[in-house]
Amino acid sequence: MQNWWKSAVVYQVYIRSFADANGDGAGDLNGLRSKLPYLSSLGVDAIWITPWYPSPMADGGYDVADFRDIEPAYGTLSDADALIAEAHERDLKVIIDIVPNHTSSEHPWFKALLSGDPAARKKFVVRTGSGPRGESPPNDWTSAFGGPAWSQLPTGEWYLHLYAPEQPDLNWDNPEVRAEFEDILRFWFDRGIDGFRIDVAHGLIKHPDLPDAGPRPDDWRTQPHPARDQDGVHEIYRAWRKIAQSYSPERIFVAEAVVPTNNRLARYLRPDELHTAFQFDFTRAPWRAEALRNVIDDALIQADIVEAPATWVLASHDIPRPVTRYARTQPSFDVQPEWDRARWAAEQPDHVTGRRRARAAALLQLALPGTAYIYQGDELGLEEVEDLPADSRQDPTWQQSGYTDVGRDGCRVPLPWSGTSPPFGFSPGEEQPWLPQPAHWGDLTAAAQQADAASCLQLYRSAVGLRKALLPPATPLQWVTGIPKDVVAFARDGFQCWVNAGRNPVRLPYGWKVVLGSIPDIDVVLPPDSAAWLTRKA
Ligand code: NOJ
Repeated sequence: MQNWWKSAVVYQVYIRSFADANGDGAGDLNGLRSKLPYLSSLGVDAIWITPWYPSPMADGGYDVADFRDIEPAYGTLSDADALIAEAHERDLKVIIDIVPNHTSSEHPWFKALLSGDPAARKKFVVRTGSGPRGESPPNDWTSAFGGPAWSQLPTGEWYLHLYAPEQPDLNWDNPEVRAEFEDILRFWFDRGIDGFRIDVAHGLIKHPDLPDAGPRPDDWRTQPHPARDQDGVHEIYRAWRKIAQSYSPERIFVAEAVVPTNNRLARYLRPDELHTAFQFDFTRAPWRAEALRNVIDDALIQADIVEAPATWVLASHDIPRPVTRYARTQPSFDVQPEWDRARWAAEQPDHVTGRRRARAAALLQLALPGTAYIYQGDELGLEEVEDLPADSRQDPTWQQSGYTDVGRDGCRVPLPWSGTSPPFGFSPGEEQPWLPQPAHWGDLTAAAQQADAASCLQLYRSAVGLRKALLPPATPLQWVTGIPKDVVAFARDGFQCWVNAGRNPVRLPYGWKVVLGSIPDIDVVLPPDSAAWLTRKA
């Protein structure tokens, strides 16, 4: 039997926004547990739950104050145990986030540092500043959220934070840090989780001299940087792999490793390192056939080299929703070195087109060989909520940009489950969710879509089910050739997927019949911005 993680459909749960059982307006573990039947009926194989640890929420939970407990607003350790057990009864694997690059400034280690403990100081990256009196940061590194990556301690020294000042970077050259995280992995593996998604997997080791990065690279995701993708990080993952392996070959790691090229990513996927890693290229590709084909080719070539599955990521809690990305003519999020978000946002989104393309993209994603990641709410066709009131926004990118970058709250708005007005069944009572939901989401609730055979939810459900029935994991992909250039089409052993990203209708091939269309009534012709799955006519 092939390892489950080589062909899984993984559903990402942003826990704070998924489902609220205790009525405080934020999602929680019991809310998630109550929705496991929904996830089972969607047919997914695994859930990845974003950080559920105690956190002051300076970065939506990616600022962890205690890696061995559950955020009280989300529940308790026994709620987590019950959730894991019930997920397993339903044949759902459970992946949780691990955040090893940094802690919260409320973590006991950082508090000990602040109270002058010299051993704690060695667990973080602390340096004297530059300038005659050390009054400037030690180097020119900038935080991913804007501003310098260094903040000053009361002693006058500086500590590093690649993200918010409330997220001090750990010093992974310190063996105590390594031992602590190995123990944390065991703590959760012992509780039965099936894997970890490693946050900022590329960032743990910094260049020993902490040299300047130089003029801000055009695109920090694609340029080398002394705080990213350093060779020393691989030794850490070799040790982690041994730990996972000591439980079972089915306990896994998924890396969020943002590195300049797929070749660099392959280094994280050597047989004695991590099992799989996100490939984010779809999230950056515009809705153009050539761009989509390139993403697929690049990912598959890499998957061949490393023998790790290709991963197809359309969205996450960090990226504007596909419906809205595809609703603009401007290339999507992050596509260009100097991506001009203001210009992108200035264009009025055409959500009718965006929704239609997002449905086609779902059929594309789910027909590809490898692992598919669905971000919660994309199965409902939710759009990015772009008009959140300023005083409700919580993402640190919003604050640290001086309130110019709208940040990532728009894809984190709590899910609409039922009913016709907010909170749309997200909370049991009338408590409004921590981010306000658009009034028109009554049409998009899971309950409304459940009752509509043509809904986005039913499309996802059919696609996930048919994928299992029609696409044995090991069947390779072959491009269909001799077709219009605006079409992406490939075959997998008696199956074809066609996506029309152009403006003209396209005739589907003779001898094949449509088993699933991204819109109703696709027959011999594939309309623009739609997709179809085909099998051979008997
Ligand atoms: C990546 C996570 O996905 C993002 O939400 C977070 O802000 C950063 N890592 C920092 O932990």
